[in-house]
Amino acid sequence: MKGIILAGGSGTRLYPMTQIISKQLLPIYDKPMIYYPLSLLMLGGIKEVLIISTERDTPFIKTLLGDGTDIGMKLSYKVQTHPNGLAEAFILGDEFIGKDDVTMILGDNLFYGDISFFRDAVVAHQKRTHGFNARVFGYYVEDARRYGVVEFEKQTGKVFSIEEKPLEPRSNYAVPGLYIFDSRCVERAKNQKPSKRGEIEIVDLIKTYLADNELGVTVIGRGVNWLDTGTPDSLLDASQLISTVQKRQGLMIGSIHEIAYRMNYLDSAQFGTLIAKTPKGPYRHYLERIVQESTD
Ligand code: DAU
Repeated sequence: MKGIILAGGSGTRLYPMTQIISKQLLPIYDKPMIYYPLSLLMLGGIKEVLIISTERDTPFIKTLLGDGTDIGMKLSYKVQTHPNGLAEAFILGDEFIGKDDVTMILGDNLFYGDISFFRDAVVAHQKRTHGFNARVFGYYVEDARRYGVVEFEKQTGKVFSIEEKPLEPRSNYAVPGLYIFDSRCVERAKNQKPSKRGEIEIVDLIKTYLADNELGVTVIGRGVNWLDTGTPDSLLDASQLISTVQKRQGLMIGSIHEIAYRMNYLDSAQFGTLIAKTPKGPYRHYLERIVQESTD
């Protein structure tokens, strides 16, 4: 399974914060936003990730994350010249995806809590346990109008419909920016026509799988938080939530370095080298504590 983080777009709702810097590099409490979607992919066991962003922002993201060696990952980059739609990621990712399955996550989507739903979905997809070639997730929300909305049969998980920002949602299940596809998503995206708003829509791509009875849905339970970071308020809410939980537990959410260690993407010696390169301060102190506690 390969991973794609789509981290482009114009960030207009967060202007002027995004006037000179990418939204996905803005802090969520004590870490850059992009750490969080990257950490989910890592926890799902994905080691090869393509990061897609704008011409302006890609160099900054590359400076932040490099080629991934530091965290035992293989990271590569691709520029999206214009925000032509979420499904364009698969056209840009053609070579990267090759014949593999792929998970795409939007760079502004944050999940925290029991994320075994994702690890299980990755494993099930790869084994084709449920026979589906594409998978979306459903997250219960009070008002789903701002999102993709999936309507499905609870018992069997059979999907009836998926719509983008419907005025009258057919269910309360919003579709987070997290999708799993087989490699045919590339050809399917290439064959898609742009929508009225000029975008290659992810929902249209998903609908091609639905039409072929190849779409599965995984419900994300209440124990998981899916956070939105699209507006100044939601950005602040996300920061406050991460801060509150971290302070209570003394454990970090979304530390890609800690995850690399815990997932054995790095051995103890490599983690030691990473810590030695980390500037002295609370973050380094935290990583040192992780090692200390795991050897106690
Ligand atoms: O967050 C979940 C929602 O994300 C889903 O429920 C929707 O089905 C999905 O369409 C998407 O809705 P948004 O309204 O958030 O889409 P938006 O166009 O704002 O783009 C989402 C992110 O992707 C945003 O951070 C910018 C980035 N983006 C967007 C486009 C259109 C790109 O990097 N490239 C693009 O071409």
